[in-house]
Amino acid sequence: MINALRGMKDMLSPESEKYLYFIENCSRIAKNYGFEFISAPILEESALFKRSVGESSDIVGKEMYEFTDKGGNRVCLRPEGTAGIVRSFIQNKMDRAGGVKRFFYYGPMFRYEKPQKGRFRQFYQFGVESFGISDVREDASVILMLSEILNFFKIETVLKLNSLGCPKCMPAYRAKLVKFLDAIEGLCDDCMRRKVLNPIRVLDCKNDQCQSFLTNAPLLIDALCDECKSDFERLCAILKNFNINYEIDPKLVRGLDYYSKTAFEFVSGDIGAQSSIAGGGRYDRLVEFLGGKSSPAVGFAIGVDRILELVMLDEQKREGIYIGTLEKEAQDLAFLAAVTLRRKNRVEVEFEAKGLKNILKNADKANAKYCVCIGENELKSGILWVKDLDTKENFSVKKELLGEFTW
Ligand code: HAM
Repeated sequence: MINALRGMKDMLSPESEKYLYFIENCSRIAKNYGFEFISAPILEESALFKRSVGESSDIVGKEMYEFTDKGGNRVCLRPEGTAGIVRSFIQNKMDRAGGVKRFFYYGPMFRYEKPQKGRFRQFYQFGVESFGISDVREDASVILMLSEILNFFKIETVLKLNSLGCPKCMPAYRAKLVKFLDAIEGLCDDCMRRKVLNPIRVLDCKNDQCQSFLTNAPLLIDALCDECKSDFERLCAILKNFNINYEIDPKLVRGLDYYSKTAFEFVSGDIGAQSSIAGGGRYDRLVEFLGGKSSPAVGFAIGVDRILELVMLDEQKREGIYIGTLEKEAQDLAFLAAVTLRRKNRVEVEFEAKGLKNILKNADKANAKYCVCIGENELKSGILWVKDLDTKENFSVKKELLGEFTW
């Protein structure tokens, strides 16, 4: 018996139904905001993630599904979507074309994490990336879009917000933070590594002892330059104006290294310890860093697996036709009827001859509106017996008229 790998699971109905419903509605909302669908490969060169997500992150440091392919290339299953979209943006010369480009995408991501509730090694994201706008209204737009998605699915969350500064204010703050961290003895091994590679990542260490050392750590939000400060204030004002509640969390640094200025997360108290439902922010330097023409950018990704638990499907109305056969000889007619009816209707057909009771039970399970049963009488007369499973009424339809009948 071969099972799925640890941390990976099959998505079965009704979860799979919810997934389609979720993606459909996210896509609709994203299109309303001017975003177009993009699909990038799941497998990319490892260097892409090392350079963008960053060597200091757990994602690159510990969690990549990385291997050498048959051509000797170091490749990696994407741990997140942004880096691949940026690569595509540059490779397809959209950076050179200038102007604004907005994309949405969805699909599986891979991180070799310790599996637990809400944390998988293969998980699904719905994400958006907007290129070409440095105005903070674009940050506000993507946050409003994300709120609209969460409101549509009636998911209650808290928005946590921070600013991670820019190359003007970051270096001085970084030096101050490193000085503060150098004076601490007993930081965990991860923090010692982060201190060298990207010291602000120490601020969101989950280790209690590390957190106890950080109570008086200098915070970036107090060290922002005039531009970052005024952008952050404008963003907060817009969100207030649109009744988006938020909490400023000065220790929110995000687990990926590419952010500058706006950083945010939507967290929920309803899904257990892995409370982050979605996260995102601005990454104005990434396009240039990956070899493109400098272009400001902002985006987010939703953790779909975590959200599906909270998504309620509308009461499903009965739909379509279920065809069953009472005799082996009826199989050809059942097949023909299904082919004819499928031009306009959803049709399920069962070829194995069963008793009427059994067929009706299966039609009910399939949530069909009509059940058609074909037996000896129907074969002789060419008139098919139909039951409406909502009204429980029976009626007959001539087999030649199946296609014209309004179901
Ligand atoms: P992220 O915060 O790493 O951001 O992931 C976004 C969301 O994916 C998380 O909030 C969480 O809901 C979900 N997620 C992450 N890891 C797992 C896991 N192991 N199992 C289940 N769900 C998980 C990014 O990935 C950025 N690319 C977001 C972004 C787009 N920033 C700018 N543009």
